[in-house]
Amino acid sequence: MSPANTGAHQCAIEDQFSRQAVGFAADRELHADDVVALVVEAARPQPHDAAIDFACGTGSVACALAKRARRVVGLDATEAMLRQARDLASREGVGNVEWRAGDVYRTPFADASFDVATCRFAFHHLEDPARAFAEMVRVAAPGARIVVCDSFASDDPQKAAAFNAMERFRDPSTVEHRTLPFLRGLFESAGLGAPVVRRFDVSYFASDFVAKAFPLNGDGARLLAMIESSVEGDAMDAGAHWTPQGVRFSFRAAALSAVKPLG
Ligand SMILES: C[S@@+](CC[C@H](N)C(=O)[O-])C[C@H]1O[C@@H](n2cnc3c(N)ncnc32)[C@H](O)[C@@H]1O
Repeated sequence: MSPANTGAHQCAIEDQFSRQAVGFAADRELHADDVVALVVEAARPQPHDAAIDFACGTGSVACALAKRARRVVGLDATEAMLRQARDLASREGVGNVEWRAGDVYRTPFADASFDVATCRFAFHHLEDPARAFAEMVRVAAPGARIVVCDSFASDDPQKAAAFNAMERFRDPSTVEHRTLPFLRGLFESAGLGAPVVRRFDVSYFASDFVAKAFPLNGDGARLLAMIESSVEGDAMDAGAHWTPQGVRFSFRAAALSAVKPLG
């Protein structure tokens, strides 16, 4: 594989997600039916459709698409994540997903091969999101639905920097959570017009979040302190607040969708 991500960055991806795979698959906040449905509803898969889920991870979106489409490709760079995805498919009796090891920047598929192209919670791991988006648009047929779902950073640059600092410390394979206007701009620059945007929050207790993380130098105490200190002035724009069970905070996320023009 020779991704647009640099070699060092791709090593960080594979290192993090090989370690995260089991915990990631078990994250109820990410894989609850109503959360996965935000992407599936935006993609509107039809029974005759071929769909592709870029950076499919442990497979919850690909499996949900597969229950409504003819066939699905789930593509990811990290074998340990794909192993979890295969297990999920077999537990759910989903037989129409082809799991492929690969790179979102350079897929082996012909132009216009898919009726649906999705990618969830991966763009903040990409050094060149516009190039990955161009690959989604390339493999999408005219009339196909294209959905990018990701967490995003505050429009306030200081709060965005604080959130990204916490996230890079928590998961060094994070490049940057971009802003919602940046994500919208991907669609507009690619000629897809203004996307439909569905916003939602994914919320965690800081202690649970830290317990399943693999932060820099294994320093969970520092990660917890970064989140707790953001309560003051909502310094990460993540709605962090104290509760009797400790600090709770949210990832701001959105599913953005558009149809590839026919002409
Ligand atoms: C946070 S996980 C999201 C997984 C899944 N999309 C979901 O929402 O549950 C990010 C995934 O992106 C994958 N990834 C990162 N860079 C990639 C690349 N260049 N090509 C393919 N997959 C990549 C990682 O291996 C990881 O599985």
